[in-house]
Amino acid sequence: MPALSASAPGKIILLGEHAVVHGRPAIAVPVTQVQAKAIIQANPSGERGSIQIVAPAIGLDAEYHTLEDQHPLRATIQLTLQALQLTRVPACTLRITSTIPVASGLGSGAAVAVAVIRVLSTFLGKPLNDQQVSSLAFEIEKIHHGTPSGIDNSVVTLNKPIYFLRGHPIETLQVPRRFMLVIGNTGIASPTSLTVQDVHVAWQENPNRVDAIFDEIAHNTQQARTRIETGDPDSIGPFLSRTHHLLSELGVSCNELDYLVQAALNAGASGAKLSGGGRGGNMIALVSSDKANLVIQALLEAGAASTISTIVRQHST
Ligand code: MEV
Repeated sequence: MPALSASAPGKIILLGEHAVVHGRPAIAVPVTQVQAKAIIQANPSGERGSIQIVAPAIGLDAEYHTLEDQHPLRATIQLTLQALQLTRVPACTLRITSTIPVASGLGSGAAVAVAVIRVLSTFLGKPLNDQQVSSLAFEIEKIHHGTPSGIDNSVVTLNKPIYFLRGHPIETLQVPRRFMLVIGNTGIASPTSLTVQDVHVAWQENPNRVDAIFDEIAHNTQQARTRIETGDPDSIGPFLSRTHHLLSELGVSCNELDYLVQAALNAGASGAKLSGGGRGGNMIALVSSDKANLVIQALLEAGAASTISTIVRQHST
């Protein structure tokens, strides 16, 4: 049997991070320039039931049963087998590679989970549908992040821009006019679980103040949605920049993110903000195509470890 493979993209939160964990809407878009990939190959000489996981980036080459129970890769395999109501599988080797930086707000954990669930269920002859893939990946997000909203696994599974409100059906964002984002990576790894937890504590200590911030973020998200869907995406810059300040008030920015945001604005971006969990990871800037190179250069000069430019459109290619 030839090897099978599945890929899943990275993602970026355009607007609404953190507030989305607390019942406000958010917009997320796939970033197809970075991908997680899972390749599976039958191993006829292997012992039945054995799945050898090879993930060179994290130095892993092990049979999945030997990993600790809460290891996300072991959990991903076990949950997939449970969903398929299978206990034994033909021996195989599962190779995982990813170009998505970890702990940087680009959804690497969700993308690896989605790629593995897809390739394993296909290999076993029972490919799961998007809804099933996303809800299994959500369980893995809980291992990574504690109390995720579900936005990462949703956008990574669907591979298209989404408008997400917890507990509601996911809506595809209409993008009649494409627009460009430059993503700047601080190079600082920052686990989302920590900032989500800190925001939760801030909300418990001062619910009125923090709810008011969430409501303002929600307002910016709604405004941006309307403008994107009516073909005026170039006007959302101020909503991005205002949201960056609100996220700073929540305590999830850091000097490096503030510096990159300011550098992008100085170089001609029409709006910029941190994206994802914050305190490191990535920021995004809205740019016109003639300013993209200037903004990229400014971000690198301001200390960005790397940049990606990506076009937001209705369907990723
Ligand atoms: C992570 O990409 C975005 C956060 O809002 C967490 C979540 O929604 O699970 C910070």
